[in-house]
Amino acid sequence: MSSVLLKSLKLAEIDLENSVNGLGRLDGVTVVESVGHCEQHGEYKKWSRKLAVLSSIKTETVCPKCAKNRVDLIKQQIDDELKQTKNLEIDRLMSLANITPRFKNCTFENYYPPNPSAEKNLRLCRAFADKWLDRLKNGGGMVMIGSPGTGKNHLAVSIVKTVIEKHQHSAVITSVNKIIREFRSTWGSNSAKSETDVINHFSTPQLLVIDEVGVQYGTNSEQMIIFEIINTRYEQMRPTILISNETRERLAEIIGERVIDRMRDGGGVEIVFNWESYRQ
Ligand SMILES: Nc1ncnc2c1ncn2[C@@H]1O[C@H](COP(=O)(O)OP(=O)(O)OP(=O)(O)O)[C@@H](O)[C@H]1O
Ligand SMILES: [Mg+2]
Ligand SMILES: [Zn+2]
Repeated sequence: MSSVLLKSLKLAEIDLENSVNGLGRLDGVTVVESVGHCEQHGEYKKWSRKLAVLSSIKTETVCPKCAKNRVDLIKQQIDDELKQTKNLEIDRLMSLANITPRFKNCTFENYYPPNPSAEKNLRLCRAFADKWLDRLKNGGGMVMIGSPGTGKNHLAVSIVKTVIEKHQHSAVITSVNKIIREFRSTWGSNSAKSETDVINHFSTPQLLVIDEVGVQYGTNSEQMIIFEIINTRYEQMRPTILISNETRERLAEIIGERVIDRMRDGGGVEIVFNWESYRQ
C-alpha cells in the first residue's frame, strides 16, 4: 500500500472532520464562522482561524460534501490498489501451482458427484479448502485414493485454487515422478542444487499435492525422499495431499506406515473414490 495514499487519506479525513465540526480555538487565534459557497453544493457553514494580531486567515474549512467526496475517492483508490496487489499475487501463485491446461477450469462448482460417496468426498474437499486456516494450524493433510477418472485431481485442483484465491497462500501440485526426477538431477557432479535444496523446495509451499503415489514404486532411496519431504512438511505443520490409485493397504506398503501416520495427524482425512471413470 502506497504511503502517499494513506497520508492523503489522513489529511482528507481531518478536512472532513473540521468541515463538519468546526475548528478548535487556539491561543492567539480567533475562530470566525461564516457562510461559504461551493459551486457544486451551494452554501455551507465555514469556520476560519484568524491570527488575533494581523487578522490574517490561517485555516479555513471546506465544503463538507466535497470533503466527504474526497475521502471516498481516496478510499476507493486505496481499495483499487489493494485489489490490484492481491490479483498480482494470485497470478504469481497460480503460475507456480503447476495446474495443467486440462484442469485449469476445474472447480468445486463443476464437479458433479455421480453418487453419494462422491457427494461426500466433494463435501470433505470443500471443507478442507474452506477451513484452510484451521488445516494450517493443525497441519492435517489428506489422502485421496481410488480408481482412475473419478475426479481426484479435479478436486485437488479445486482445493489448490481456493487456497490461492482466498488466502494467497502458496499451493503446488507435483507428482512422485517429478520429485524423484528433481532429486536425480542433483546427483550429477556439476549440479548446482543439492538434495537438501530439493527437499526445501517441496517443503516450502503451504500446500503440496503429490500425485501418482505408487505409480512407480522404485528404490528404498526413493521412498526415503518422499518420506523426507512429507516429514519435513509435517514438522512445519504444512498440509500435504497425497493422490494414489492404490488401495489403502498397498499405499501403506509403498510409502510406509510412518507416512500414513503423519497424514492422519492434525485432523487428516482419507477419502476413497471407487466408481466408474468419468472419462469416456
Ligand atoms: N464428477 C465429476 N464431475 C465433473 N467432471 C469430472 C468428474 N469426475 C471427473 N471429472 C473430469 O474427468 C477428468 C478425469 O478426472 P481426474 O483426472 O480428476 O481423475 P483422477 O481420479 O485424478 O484419475 P486418475 O486416477 O486416472 O489420475 C477430468 O477432466 C475431470 O475434470
Ligand atoms: Mg489423477
Ligand atoms: Zn462542495
